[in-house]
Amino acid sequence: MKTSRCTSAMRVAMPLAAAGCVLLGGCRGDRTSQAPREFFPDMDKQARWNPQADTPFYENGSSARVPDPNAVAFGRANFDPVAFGNEGWARSFMQQRQDLLGENDAVYRGKVGDEYLDYIPVPVTLERIRRGQEQFNVFCSACHGYQGDGKGEVAVQFIAPPANLHADLYTDPVQRTARDGYIFEVIRNGVRNMPGYAHSVGVQDAWNIVMYVRALQKSHAASLDGVPQEQLDAMMRTRPLPVEAPAPVGDQGANQGGGAQGGGQ
Ligand code: HEC
Repeated sequence: MKTSRCTSAMRVAMPLAAAGCVLLGGCRGDRTSQAPREFFPDMDKQARWNPQADTPFYENGSSARVPDPNAVAFGRANFDPVAFGNEGWARSFMQQRQDLLGENDAVYRGKVGDEYLDYIPVPVTLERIRRGQEQFNVFCSACHGYQGDGKGEVAVQFIAPPANLHADLYTDPVQRTARDGYIFEVIRNGVRNMPGYAHSVGVQDAWNIVMYVRALQKSHAASLDGVPQEQLDAMMRTRPLPVEAPAPVGDQGANQGGGAQGGGQ
């Protein structure tokens, strides 16, 4: 029984194995005019010169090119956009390069030399202040509060009290910590117990936040006298402020206190 099963299995297996050997053996050393299999052909098929390759295409026979005489290398020193001739192009080119390389200390570090800037080095517009407000509310308000007074939701639990941005330290121009460049620096890189936000707040947005902090500080220190009458009227209509003395507490108020003596209704 055992031997016969074995032989019947072998009868099938042997010719198969032999056929396999013939097939494989037949492939070895053969040449084919068919294209090899390519699994990611895009890199193989691109138009390119191999490094240091000869080419009949250029006069000097070299595939490596030397820059044109008037080419402006992207990483090199600044040039004078007026002298360059095409000033509009030159300025936008310089701006792009500056953004790419983060090459302007005032804009990218809030500093000139070791001194923090006492001005905002990008154009201040209403649009940017609004954007700054949005970003402040997202990234700063949790700790510093929507008003910037340091009383955000997280503040109560935080290891150190977040700064009140209306304090003299941040509003009085003689203070180093009140400088625009300093606040920019704190937003981007943090300070002591405050984490930096450079990972989510870009350079332009950090300046937008500085603009908004300034607006917050101004509004915080302002009085109603400074508001134009027209806006004041509009404000009062939508949200009356308690500028007059509160109405004297009448029967209703007394009733709320304790029902005993009151007439109920
Ligand atoms: C996670 C909480 C937290 C967030 C979010 C936060 N801060 Fe702060 N911030 C602090 C704390 C805490 C301090 C005080 C740090 C210290 O003195 O140790 C502080 C200090 C500051 C100071 C004063 C720095 C100084 O040297 O006195 C400024 C300005 C400031 N934050 C601005 C901002 C702005 C703008 C944002 C939004 C981009 C922001 N912070 C987001 C917690 C936070």
